[in-house]
Amino acid sequence: MSRLTLPAAGAAIAIVATAAAQDGKFPPEQVRQGAAVYAQHCSPCHGPRLYGEESAFDLRTFPRGERARFVNSVTRGKNAMPPWDGLLKAEEIDALWAYVSVGE
Ligand code: HEC
Repeated sequence: MSRLTLPAAGAAIAIVATAAAQDGKFPPEQVRQGAAVYAQHCSPCHGPRLYGEESAFDLRTFPRGERARFVNSVTRGKNAMPPWDGLLKAEEIDALWAYVSVGE
């Protein structure tokens, strides 16, 4: 029988969510949408939370002011990264930008 205590994990998630909400720049639901799209499409190469042991590119280091570069690279692809144009809606790419900008 497992005696794992889940409340601790819940508290950690609550802290992360609060930090993101306090950023103020992006609506929390947009950040959440970005996190969901990220988990589905980006995490296999970029790691579970913007980076990973064998991550293609550490997205935590992506310059926060360069939205146009982000949208361009994601839409058209870059070197080994496939283009996402046609696979993701503009709204989803905006949500990804929100998620990456908040950096959580
Ligand atoms: C098939 C693996 C793969 C997937 C899936 C993938 N990427 Fe990438 N990504 C890469 C690689 C490899 C690079 C490094 C490209 C380079 O600079 O050579 C990269 C680079 C980037 C960069 C930096 C581009 C720049 O301008 O320097 C961003 C931003 C990025 N990815 C976002 C995303 C997002 C958002 C998703 C999900 C929609 C995603 N990636 C999915 C492989 C992937």
